[in-house]
Amino acid sequence: MHNVTAVGVIGAGQMGGGIAQVAAVSGFTTVVYDTSPEQLAGCQKLHDKLLARAIEKGRMSADEVKAAKDRLTYVTDLHYLAESDCFVEAIVENAEVKAKVWGEVAGMGKAGALLASNTSSISITEIATAVGERAPHFIGMHFFNPVPVMKLVEVIKGLETSDETTERTIALAEAMGKTPVPANDRAGFVSNRILMPMINEAFYTWMEGVAEPEHIDEIMKLGMAHPMGPLRLADFIGLDTCAHIMNVMANGLNNDRYRPCPLLRQLVTAGRLGDKTGRGVFEYGK
Ligand code: 3HC
Repeated sequence: MHNVTAVGVIGAGQMGGGIAQVAAVSGFTTVVYDTSPEQLAGCQKLHDKLLARAIEKGRMSADEVKAAKDRLTYVTDLHYLAESDCFVEAIVENAEVKAKVWGEVAGMGKAGALLASNTSSISITEIATAVGERAPHFIGMHFFNPVPVMKLVEVIKGLETSDETTERTIALAEAMGKTPVPANDRAGFVSNRILMPMINEAFYTWMEGVAEPEHIDEIMKLGMAHPMGPLRLADFIGLDTCAHIMNVMANGLNNDRYRPCPLLRQLVTAGRLGDKTGRGVFEYGK
């Protein structure tokens, strides 16, 4: 049993917004926190759009959508999350920023609350040090983008994570309609350990002139039955995020074969970050 009624989501970006939507639709009272009112407004607007789409497609009734929206609150003060039985943090992939937020959470809320980070690469054991004696309640809950669509939650057990926390997290992910799969706390976990080298190799393949970017993607889509080619997927994830995860793996696994391809680094330097800037490997307009 997860024993969770109220979920507090920290960060209203792409991932946090998706997690909040899934939590509210699954029946949890959900409070989304972000320091930026603009980010929260954008998050709410996207929820409205996606939930209206769910009615259109017959996946939810108008009453169900209203109930889900009634369960959602958007706040700029972290203290409104104090009653949460589970905190899910989905903020910037920066260990110091995460430690600061988790340090604040550690000083508030219920003693038995689950403390979950959606980090895609930073060590769960390391982030857990910010919550002190609450480290046994700390775990990795790695969702995938777009969260409302993707079924997987990679559940990462840190060194101090208790078995009870792992069991509760698995039950919670299932209650959110997801399929939780366990992994241990090594840089990149399983998903990015395998995905990112494939994406990086696609950049080398492009850089060495083996094929044009659209042809690389077409070959991987048609030949491997991937929904997106690796270069399109890199734009979707964010080229800066891909480069960052590769560096975390290179350092964490102490192996330079995980270093980001020079062409990937160059695009990041030029500010071509993918969908979020309208231009990465490909162009997207506004
Ligand atoms: N939020 C919510 N729903 C979305 C969405 C979003 N951002 N993007 C698409 N969808 C929904 C659409 O609304 C549509 O639903 P509908 O039935 O109501 O129309 C459904 O998904 C399918 O979308 P489309 O018809 O527009 O397009 P596709 O069929 O091409 O699917 C896709 C889009 C689901 C994104 C698909 O291309 C896909 O699965 N791509 C791969 C995604 C992937 O690999 N994600 C993992 C990234 S790695 C990660 O997140 C980990 C991190 O650590 C890096």
